[in-house]
Amino acid sequence: MRPMLPADLDAVLRIQAACYPAPMQEPAAVVASRIAAARGTCLVGSHEGIVRGYLFAYPSRLGLVTDLNAPFTLAHQPDTLYLHDLAIEPCALGRGLARALVDDALCLARTLGLAHAALVSVQDSARFWQALGWRAAPTRDAGLDTYPHGALYMVRTPA
Ligand SMILES: CC(C)(COP(=O)(O)OP(=O)(O)OC[C@H]1O[C@@H](n2cnc3c(N)ncnc32)[C@H](O)[C@@H]1OP(=O)(O)O)[C@@H](O)C(=O)NCCC(=O)NCCS
Repeated sequence: MRPMLPADLDAVLRIQAACYPAPMQEPAAVVASRIAAARGTCLVGSHEGIVRGYLFAYPSRLGLVTDLNAPFTLAHQPDTLYLHDLAIEPCALGRGLARALVDDALCLARTLGLAHAALVSVQDSARFWQALGWRAAPTRDAGLDTYPHGALYMVRTPA
């Protein structure tokens, strides 16, 4: 695991292409802007020296959602680490890379003094997140509607 760098953009786009259907592919320019905006809280994970997974995260407020395709807006007084996107390339699934990326992000949240962590579960991933200690929670943020049907806001404490 290490912080994501601008030079990781091609690997991130490759993994995104392998993990999401066309309507969920976010534009390269938006992805690049997020890497620049959230240096230090976005992570990549490698297997055998090749980047095979990523996690986009940034300081936010509880209840807020990042719209699909929108740049990150970092909170001035954050209380939450918002995990925008976690993806592992199919050839590296099931090796614990996703759990390790989430564990590192939660560690960062603790270091930053954030009381909450939050995300939007998509693609039937709710059981995966539940297994990692997350639970469904209410949000009134209309950004949830920018995601395909079934998207679920979830939270946990970083501890
Ligand atoms: C969801 C995803 C990140 C999981 O990656 P992974 O490589 O299987 O995850 P890990 O190997 O780190 O597994 C961590 C744990 O979650 C469990 N798990 C993995 N997928 C699961 C699922 N669909 N349902 C329930 N548990 C699951 C694993 O068994 C493992 O448990 P263990 O440590 O007790 O053995 C991966 O399937 C993926 O990239 N999907 C496509 C992108 C996506 O939809 N991301 C979610 C965005 S919200």
